[in-house]
Amino acid sequence: MVADVYAQVRQQLQAAPRRWLVTGVAGFIGSNLLEALLQLDQEVVGLDNFATGHAHNLEQVRALVSPQQWQRFRFMEGDIRDPQACAAACAGAEVVLHQAALGSVPRSLENPQQTNDVNITGFLNMLVAARDAGVGRFIYAASSSTYGDHPGLPKVEELIGKPLSPYAVTKYVNELYADVFARCYQLDSVGLRYFNVFGPRQDPAGAYAAVIPKWYKALLDKEPVLINGDGETSRDFCFIANVVQANLLAASSTEPAALNQVYNIALGDRTTLNELFELIRERVARELPAVAQAQAQYRPFRDGDVRHSQANTDKIRRLLGYAPTHRVAEGLDQATAYYLQALRT
Ligand SMILES: NC(=O)c1ccc[n+]([C@@H]2O[C@H](COP(=O)([O-])OP(=O)(O)OC[C@H]3O[C@@H](n4cnc5c(N)ncnc54)[C@H](O)[C@@H]3O)[C@@H](O)[C@H]2O)c1
Repeated sequence: MVADVYAQVRQQLQAAPRRWLVTGVAGFIGSNLLEALLQLDQEVVGLDNFATGHAHNLEQVRALVSPQQWQRFRFMEGDIRDPQACAAACAGAEVVLHQAALGSVPRSLENPQQTNDVNITGFLNMLVAARDAGVGRFIYAASSSTYGDHPGLPKVEELIGKPLSPYAVTKYVNELYADVFARCYQLDSVGLRYFNVFGPRQDPAGAYAAVIPKWYKALLDKEPVLINGDGETSRDFCFIANVVQANLLAASSTEPAALNQVYNIALGDRTTLNELFELIRERVARELPAVAQAQAQYRPFRDGDVRHSQANTDKIRRLLGYAPTHRVAEGLDQATAYYLQALRT
């Protein structure tokens, strides 16, 4: 495979722009995909119902691209539970990057029906709409939660266990449906099993916030950083730029063997929560020296949390030429700059 496949893909896209639909465009990952696509002069339709996304994410993207690039974006407010909204959004799209879903394991434990409606019925609506609109490729956000109770480490795509939450069920069902739509209707798809993604615009607020933005907010608000368990729980934290890369590679591959597959999206690294806390504290303390004294507070392990999660990324490296550009520390440098600015104003 050619050395820098990603650089080539970006050049090709810029030379011959395509029409994209990004669902969940006002969310964390969706808005970062939007930013990358507009910076490559692509035409983008975005669909979102603002369930967990924010108009200010779209405003931030607007500020980061040129007025000409922003004109290539059309936003549609709508719900993926509504088949008509899905059909309208898919009309004319060549590639769909389907990110809209209700994230968070605890949310799904509290309201499994709502998570099911959005993540399964909504997903199916999107597949049907993409099929009917003749979309060429359907890339979707899958999840490392699909590994469930399988004990193997690092995780390889073929070895999954039983789901540990309603959320994990929905993400696994997405994979099954995408596979069936490829077999029955020749809709090519790629599922990207994200592992603990982080970066600018990830929401620090609310009961279901992810650990990294939540900790930035706690440090900046001079509130305690809470660690579930002893802090030796580990994750394969993945900076958003690597996720954007995976989406663009999956959307652009011309290798039949690379399609209708699922891939791990991570680094293949393992960072404990204690290490993560130190990395974040050190970075914030460069700007706010008092933060260097902040200590984490430990509380009981959370039900359903797996102890360690780490990806084997051989498959996507081999079949799609994925070469992550940001390790955790580099990603945290960028995230720190973002949260210092976003949360102090
Ligand atoms: N962030 C992670 O670490 C991670 C890990 C694994 C998988 N994922 C998946 O990646 C995708 C994006 O996650 P994120 O972290 O950006 O979350 P997010 O909550 O920031 O973004 C999700 C977006 O989908 C929108 N949405 C929700 N329900 C909708 C509906 N019914 N109709 C239209 N839009 C709707 C929300 O308003 C939001 O803008 C999700 O599918 C999530 O399950 C994320």
